[in-house]
Parts: sequence; structure tokens; C-alpha cells
Amino acid sequence: MTTTLTWYGHAALGLETGGYRIVVDPFLTGNPTASISPEAVAADFILISHGHGDHVGDSVAIAKRTGAMVISNDEIANWFAAQGVEKTHGQHLGGGYKHPFGYLKLTFAIHGSALPDGSNGGNPCGFLLTANDGKKIYMAQDTGLFGDMKLIGEEGLGLAVIPIGDNYTMGPDDALRAVKLLEPKVVIPIHYNTFDLLKQDEHAWAARVEKETKTKPVILKPGESYSL
Ligand code: NI
Ligand code: MN
Repeated sequence: MTTTLTWYGHAALGLETGGYRIVVDPFLTGNPTASISPEAVAADFILISHGHGDHVGDSVAIAKRTGAMVISNDEIANWFAAQGVEKTHGQHLGGGYKHPFGYLKLTFAIHGSALPDGSNGGNPCGFLLTANDGKKIYMAQDTGLFGDMKLIGEEGLGLAVIPIGDNYTMGPDDALRAVKLLEPKVVIPIHYNTFDLLKQDEHAWAARVEKETKTKPVILKPGESYSL
């Protein structure tokens, strides 16, 4: 079984696993690096890490057009239901659930989570997906560095997707420390170069990962995919 992750730019991700199509934080309209239009996104499930506009993005429209189920923390899942999205599933940090595409646990994240209309978006989260073949993918989404990444790493990660953009999330130095705590087989950086504020040299960062860790860094351009 193959699981393929596509980076759509910023923190927007597409996952294909066991025939299921999962979209994460689909901020496409207004994202200058977006590699796909919201109308072209196919989705069975949509994962939302927190309430900020650059993560909620086009998700209401995509959910209504595709009929995809929105999975997030309980506050955000309820907010989507209030927007008229038919299928929602609320979880919370530390809790996992066996969805058709795999076992999904919401993980800790240090960040904010106010929704675009000012509603309370609860606590922000990351995602730890155990695919149906047992492979584990951690998508940190927006967070600062935290020591309990070591606990997430103890699960044995095939892939970690982490922010390196700085200002709102970990920058390159802390993201390198995160790789040392997580010890994934492969790491893919996100949440950088979307705007001038998030400008980073991803190749210089990847060279540091290669020199200082056993993890393989994979740099994607928006629209490119990695399969594991
Ligand atoms: Ni954010
Ligand atoms: Mn963000």
C-alpha cells in the first residue's frame, strides 16, 4: 500500500492512502504559492489543524462541493456544522479514532486557533496518522518547538511534515531541533516562502538536516508529491 503526500503550498497538503483522498488545511484562495484551485480539489476527508484563515482557507466550500467529512477539534468541527457542512467529526488533543483511512490522533501544538469570524477555535493541533499499512505520518502544522515531540517520535515515524517559516511557527533552527526529537525517516518542510515574511532557504536547512541527523530531508515544490 502506498501513501502519497502532495504539498499544495503553505500548510495545505493532500494525502492519498488506500484509495482515500484527504486534504489538510486547504488554504488556496489568496495563497500566492497554491498549486491547485479549490474547485479542482477532490476530497473524502478534510483535516483542519486550527482556526486561522491560512488553514481553514477554502475548506467550507470544498466540504460542501465534495461532501467530504471535516475532522478537527470539537470546537472547530462544531463551527463547520454551523456553516452548513453536513459531515463533521470532532476529536480532541491526545485522542485517536479509527477512520476508514487509518487511525488519526490529534497531537499537541503551541499556537493560537481563533476562527475567521472570531469564534473560539479551541486548542490548535497537529495530526499523527497511522495508515492502514501501519506507516506513521506526523503533520505538525502550525507550532513552536516543544519537548514532547520526543514522545511523538517514539511512535516510529516514517514521515514528519514540519513548519520552518519562523515568525508564526518554528524557524529553521528550532525545526532542526524538532527533527532531532522526532527522528523520522523523512522530513518535509512546510509553512515557508508563502509570503516575504516567511522567506527561508529550504535547501540550506535540508543540508543541516543531512549533516546533523539520520533523517532524509525531502524538499518539495508546491504541486510535488512524495510517496512512502
Ligand atoms: Ni496559524
Ligand atoms: Mn499558519
